[in-house]
Amino acid sequence: MASPFPFLLSLLLLLLASLSSLPDSSAHLTLDYYAKTCPKFDQIMQETTTSKQMSNPTTAAAALRVFFHDCMVDGCDASVLVASTSLSKAERDSDLNEALAGDAFDVVTRAKNALELACPGVVSCADILAVATRNLVKYVGGPFFKVRLGRKDGRESVASHVEINLPRANASMDQMIDMFTSKGLTVEELVALTGGGHTIGFTHCKEFSNRIFNFSSTSEVDPSLNPKFADRLRQMCANYHKNPAIAAFNDPLSPGTFDNLFFKNLLNGMGLLASDQILVADPRTKPLVELYARNQTVFFETFARAMEKTSVIGIKTGRHGEVRAQCDRFNTVRSQS
Ligand code: HEM
Ligand SMILES: *[C@@H]1O[C@H](CO)[C@@H](O)[C@H](O)[C@H]1NC(C)=O
Ligand SMILES: *[C@@H]1O[C@H](CO)[C@@H](O)[C@H](O)[C@H]1NC(C)=O
Ligand SMILES: *[C@@H]1O[C@H](CO)[C@@H](O)[C@H](O)[C@H]1NC(C)=O
Repeated sequence: MASPFPFLLSLLLLLLASLSSLPDSSAHLTLDYYAKTCPKFDQIMQETTTSKQMSNPTTAAAALRVFFHDCMVDGCDASVLVASTSLSKAERDSDLNEALAGDAFDVVTRAKNALELACPGVVSCADILAVATRNLVKYVGGPFFKVRLGRKDGRESVASHVEINLPRANASMDQMIDMFTSKGLTVEELVALTGGGHTIGFTHCKEFSNRIFNFSSTSEVDPSLNPKFADRLRQMCANYHKNPAIAAFNDPLSPGTFDNLFFKNLLNGMGLLASDQILVADPRTKPLVELYARNQTVFFETFARAMEKTSVIGIKTGRHGEVRAQCDRFNTVRSQS
């Protein structure tokens, strides 16, 4: 009689592989990656992020969004930081990335400059972005999470890869779930990450103007919006065509603090984006919004775990990447086809 064990064992291994939350390549990353090669790494990162955030309080949100946009598109490899050239249009210049805030690029540049002085050619831009984001989230009140290190910087940045990997404000729940699960992120993590991202920072009027002006043939504003909140947004955005820089706080009640108010706002019709609003409309996500609105601890724990997972999406190690000398350009310009 054949033993059932080999079969069961391989089934178990298969299960474990599919359950394991971190992709294989993250096994090469370590918490103390720079301990010998750049012992002042943590200190320099801490000093740079703190002083930047103190002088420019919009930095934390800026970095968190740039980090998310980097990791979702060809992995956390700082490809979003690369500038376009006459030969190729980089991620940063795709339509979806046009509003990425300059403070995020600036905090990375500052850290890179300081690190190049202390330990030239050692620390990747991808690691800098990941740690800067972690430090800044913590600084504005969010949870701490571990960032393992040793990511290499990517060797390509292609504008057309952005649109297929990042949701827009008019995305359907199916589209959003597809995009997140294709990166190994669960629906719980989708909700926690989005709530974490949208509890700080800004959104420009054009991203939600269709909800407050001429919404439908029967209603001027989206009926799922709180009417008073909609009124305020209509006043604020009245001239947004003339002045496209007008932006609203993502979380009007505590705009600069990382907390769970985003979820409470949503339950009160105070979510700016249609993509936020459907989190309370869809039965797959509504219970999670309610849970995170009730219990900030569960939200923080889920967010922290999700950030750790996000931080190792599609990472490059060894010869699959490089340590850029400058974060906005590749070390060697290769001819593009
Ligand atoms: C689920 C789908 C998501 C959609 C459709 C979405 C869309 C958007 C849009 C349209 C804006 C406004 C941009 C502007 O007008 O300048 C925004 C802002 C922002 N998003 Fe998201 N987002 C999503 C998820 C996330 C996630 C998962 C994170 C991070 C973990 C995040 C972090 C941010 C941050 C921090 C801002 C504010 C940026 C700033 O103030 O500079 N978003 N998002
Ligand atoms: C979402 O908005 C973009 C432009 O902002 C547009 O090109 C696209 O067609 C819209 N998608 C849907 C499903 O409405
Ligand atoms: C509002 O939308 C209708 C079609 O739904 C359109 O005919 C009308 O011109 C729009 N009004 C404004 C002010 O944009
Ligand atoms: C909130 O969630 C935490 C972590 O899961 C749990 O330990 C705690 O009991 C919850 N608190 C309440 C009030 O439900």
